[in-house]
Amino acid sequence: METLPIKKFVLETYGCQMNTADSELVEGILLNLGLEKTQDLHDADAIFLNTCAIRENAEVKVHSRLGNLHKIKRSKPHLIIGVLGCMAQNLKDDLLKNKPYVDIILGPDSYRNIPKLMNRHLTEKKSIVDTKLSRYEVYEDMFPSRGDTFNAWVSIMRGCDKFCSFCIVPFTRGRERSRSVDSVVTEVKKAVDQGFVEITLLGQNVNSYKHEKQSFADLLLAVSDIPGVKRIRYTSPHPQDINVELLEVMASRTNICNYVHFPMQSGSNELLKRMNRTYTREHFYYMAEKIREIMPNCGLSTDIIVGFPGETDEQFRETLDLMEKIKFNTAFTFKYSSRPYTRAEQFSDQISEQVKKDRLDEMLILQRKHTLELNLQKVGNFEQVLIEKESKKSADHWAGRTDSNEWVIVEKNHSKIKDIIPVEITEASGVILRGKEITGA
Ligand code: SAH
Ligand code: SF4
Ligand code: F3S
Repeated sequence: METLPIKKFVLETYGCQMNTADSELVEGILLNLGLEKTQDLHDADAIFLNTCAIRENAEVKVHSRLGNLHKIKRSKPHLIIGVLGCMAQNLKDDLLKNKPYVDIILGPDSYRNIPKLMNRHLTEKKSIVDTKLSRYEVYEDMFPSRGDTFNAWVSIMRGCDKFCSFCIVPFTRGRERSRSVDSVVTEVKKAVDQGFVEITLLGQNVNSYKHEKQSFADLLLAVSDIPGVKRIRYTSPHPQDINVELLEVMASRTNICNYVHFPMQSGSNELLKRMNRTYTREHFYYMAEKIREIMPNCGLSTDIIVGFPGETDEQFRETLDLMEKIKFNTAFTFKYSSRPYTRAEQFSDQISEQVKKDRLDEMLILQRKHTLELNLQKVGNFEQVLIEKESKKSADHWAGRTDSNEWVIVEKNHSKIKDIIPVEITEASGVILRGKEITGA
């Protein structure tokens, strides 16, 4: 590998867990080149932003960060600024035209080329762009540089073929493709050897995983069989590919977590159709019931969009009504944001910002009520809690998660990070539970 006249780099990550996992890949490549990682912008010779384009405000954040970096570059002209990830894919022309100080623009399928492209930039002294999307790239043979934590992100598939009418991801990430079961198993074994106890399988549509004849359920079983894997989570699934076979596999293994992210988006059939979500309100409700029937006490979270073009007050109320019927433990709620290339951008009946805001506020109040209600039902329960980090509010307490994904605060005692301890839940306030470790049992 050629050596670069660059010593230190900063890598900042925006967006979803797929980007976190991609940044670990990129970090692995840069460390392999002999570069050193730093957090100090002023000390760096290269600064990379791994970006997100999902909503307009995600892009606004990166534009403003680039403004700061431009100032640093004025006093340090050799600084290399790189834009990676979904915005690079989406905004390359705009960046080339309006931000010529950006030196390297790389889409999510081009990370292997970083060394070559940095060299090209240094020789040719111009901005270098590589945003070609691939039908095959899954970075199968590359090991990411993971932080010192309990959880290893393992990306198992990339891309999205679903084309929901509001979403930019199929355009920024390209077509769906999956890694082989063997390569995932090899990577998980290595992560376990390195001390990781929780594995989170990742993909834009993680449960659309398909490699040769093997399904996502087959892959889950293979990962679950690996000795030392204490917990398995996965995100983000599409409701269309949650089926009874998958739920039964989840229920049959204690190390597969009792938790499903189940993104609803809307409770109105007309809107679901306009969103191209491929399921109805009735099917979604039926599957939510199935999840809780097959996995009692399963944690259920969702994503919901308010103010999708044409959303009437009545349709919004249908969404609230379905939330009321299902009662999610957590909901990630978003104001619709119009995105380039998408079908919904063309719809003429866009909703005003004020209506979106009012609907979001109303939804948040309802969700808070549900979260508290479900958490209060847990008081008195016994849960297995994986200790993840120190509590933000007290150095004498740990923060950990239950199998079903609730945060629990518990006194430190003799336990340490990565332990799974039995805890009695004693108190619920908002999204946080408190508990007492059961000792001497
Ligand atoms: N593949 C996942 C979602 C990835 S994006 C799935 O299908 O569930 C994460 C969430 O962002 C989506 O579930 C959706 O709720 C939200 N989102 C996507 N595009 C959006 C947009 N244009 N405006 C607002 N929210 C959006
Ligand atoms: Fe976006 Fe829909 Fe694909 Fe999820 S399934 S990434 S929301 S297009
Ligand atoms: Fe954002 Fe790209 Fe993830 S748009 S949400 S970083 S797939």
